[in-house]
Amino acid sequence: MRVVLGIESSCDETAAALVCHDRTIIAQRIASQDDAHRPYGGVVPEIAARAHVEILSPLIAATLADAGMALGDVDAIAATAGPGLIGGVMVGLVTAKALAMASSKPLIAVNHLEGHALSPRLADATLEFPYLLLLVSGGHCQLLKVSGVGQYRRLATTIDDALGEAFDKTAKILGLGFPGGPAVERLANEGDPRAVPLPRPLLGSAEPHFSFAGLKSAVMRAKQAGGHDNADIAAAFQQAAIDCVIDRTARALAGAGEVSALVVAGGVAANRAIRAALLALATAHDLRFIAPPLALCTDNAAMIAWAGIERLNSTGWDQSDPLDFAALPRWPLDPAADPVRGAGVKA
Ligand code: KG4
Ligand code: ZN
Repeated sequence: MRVVLGIESSCDETAAALVCHDRTIIAQRIASQDDAHRPYGGVVPEIAARAHVEILSPLIAATLADAGMALGDVDAIAATAGPGLIGGVMVGLVTAKALAMASSKPLIAVNHLEGHALSPRLADATLEFPYLLLLVSGGHCQLLKVSGVGQYRRLATTIDDALGEAFDKTAKILGLGFPGGPAVERLANEGDPRAVPLPRPLLGSAEPHFSFAGLKSAVMRAKQAGGHDNADIAAAFQQAAIDCVIDRTARALAGAGEVSALVVAGGVAANRAIRAALLALATAHDLRFIAPPLALCTDNAAMIAWAGIERLNSTGWDQSDPLDFAALPRWPLDPAADPVRGAGVKA
């Protein structure tokens, strides 16, 4: 039995997990910082970094205790080394380096996006490469062809906002609080999506890229115009977002070549209406549709440990990243992909 300790601290979740190479999640703990950021309506990097400093070490100790294990019992330590809010990434990576050094275990510096990209294989042992991954979270909005560990081709990204960001901003405009995605989805269930006309940016365009800034501005104008029910605005926004996601994903499927499945990951994958629409799209293309359990869709450390396991399985379990591996605020999964204006640049 090989066991990897995973550490995640790139945004507003502090998380640790112990995962076995047979896919058993032996223990995992996640501390959300939602309460600390709620007064500001979004994640404040400095508050996040300080919270990671306070929470992470006790959280790792508690995770080991849950499993009845000591640091000496793990085979490697995998930590998110980017991309993300750099203060938080540094806290997790430095902690992992210290633990690796103290225990003489390999350090695996994991790309957070790779954690999301491979998490469906943690949940489902039958998922084979290559697959088309729709990665939709608060900070990321990409379509990737995943052909193997370390083999990622980016087919599309957003030219402005990420999809989760659009949900969060819509929630803010409607006064629904933070985090906004789940609140918008709940309210959308009570509204009529046809009651408010909203645009579908980039629908039908040749490249499968995304754009949500114009949709967000239209939501703002609809709210300011008055006369619309909040539920109708939420429903119309969600339907416009779904129409864009399905059109763009279909476009990517057309150019992706052979894939075994359509897979969704990232926090927005929690949205039931989006899942249902993707299932219908996959079915129409004779593809399997795979969405990991919600706990593996949002930021978590099990996916980071699993990415470490996948790496070690492919390189050998004696490999280690250097202890001077630098934390990276930006770290594209596909460095060969053309830069797209505004992509991944967050306010
Ligand atoms: O992956 P994640 O936990 O963190 C990031 O790496 O960003 O994703 C969080 C994002 C937030 O923007 C949140 O509003 C969105 O996922 N989200 C949702 C839902 N649940 C979470 N968006 C739409 N519908 C949901 N049910
Ligand atoms: Zn994430």
